[in-house]
Parts: sequence; C-alpha cells; structure tokens
Amino acid sequence: MDAYSSLDGFRLFPGLLDAARQRRIAADILAVLEAAPDYHAAMPKTGRPMSVAMSNAGRFGWYSDREQGYRYIERHPVTDRPWPAIPDSVLSVWWSVAGYDHLPECCLINLYRDGAKMGLHQDRDEADFSAPVVSISLGDDALFRLGGTARRDPTRSFKLASGDVLVLGGAARLAYHGIDRVLPGTSRLIPGGGRINLTLRRVTRP
Ligand code: SIN
Ligand code: FE2
Repeated sequence: MDAYSSLDGFRLFPGLLDAARQRRIAADILAVLEAAPDYHAAMPKTGRPMSVAMSNAGRFGWYSDREQGYRYIERHPVTDRPWPAIPDSVLSVWWSVAGYDHLPECCLINLYRDGAKMGLHQDRDEADFSAPVVSISLGDDALFRLGGTARRDPTRSFKLASGDVLVLGGAARLAYHGIDRVLPGTSRLIPGGGRINLTLRRVTRP
C-alpha cells in the first residue's frame, strides 16, 4: 500500500527521471510534436474543446470529438498521417516500471498551458486492463487528484513534479484521476512554460 492510495497496483516513483533524462525525453517529445502537432480534442456530445492540448506517438492515438466521442485512431486527425513512433527514451521508462511483457501502443501527450486542467475520469478506452497505465510528468508541478474505482469514492490530491513517474496497475488501473491545476513557473524544462504529461498505454490485447 502506498501513502497516497489504498488501491493495490498504485505506485508513485518521485524523481525517477533525473534532469538529463527529462531533457532527453522533452527533446524527443518536442520532435514528435513537430511531426504531429497538438490539437484540442472535443468532449463527446457537447463538442466543448478540452483545455489540455494533445497529440500522440505510437500505433494508436487517443482522440475525442463531438460526433464519435472517446476512441483510438491510427492517424493524426489534422495531418491524416500515422502517429510518430514512441521514442526509445520513453519506452525505457515503460520497461523499468510497467511489469508487463508487451509494448505500449499509445503515448498520449498532454500539453498543459494557460490554466489547462483535466477533470476526474477513468482510462477505460483500452481492450486490456491487465496492462498498467504509466504516466510521466515533465515541466511545471501539478496537483494530481486520485480517487477510487467508483466516482463517489473519496479522493485526495498530491503534487506531481517533473521527473515523477506514476503507475496505475492492478486494482488502481481503473482509479478515477485528474489534474486540479498546474503551478505555473515551477520548472524551466518546457520551452514556453507549462507541463507535459505522457501517458503510456496498451490499447489492444497482445
Ligand atoms: C491523464 O489522465 O491523461 C493525464 C494525467 C496527468 O496529466 O498527469
Ligand atoms: Fe487519464
């Protein structure tokens, strides 16, 4: 059991990535964003744009629009090109913490700028919940909120800093989570400021 959650399979690795590794990953992700520019996905039904800008690397990219809602797509919604490969610098984090024998198929890039935040949600658009979700924080600190597997369960919040890695596996795989807010100016890693979160996921059953 971890200090932040009673759910089995929740693990937080504070400062797992040193400054050099953070810079390597940030540079690799900025290169991905050159090829696959970030966009604002829209909420199902309402079509309201999300405040977090997104892009992806890997075979599948997570996407949402008014008409078809949350889903994975194999091509960038604007350029119509396949997503860039997940950089090796990012894959190595998966291999060190996931405890899962197969490759992740999606690296969702969440770009938080200008007060962007993310409401409480579950990650449940994948076919295989036996694979964990591995989440990497880069740039400004963020207040992360974590609950249980039911929306009504109590939640708590704690800070995620650049270089922290979080794993939602086992019972915690379907834990509700979100970002209350980002603390601007707490890091200089990302050009132009803000926070980048990378969320690695298996999408299909191996
Ligand atoms: C997410 O749940 O997709 C993002 C979480 C985070 O930004 O740390
Ligand atoms: Fe999520």
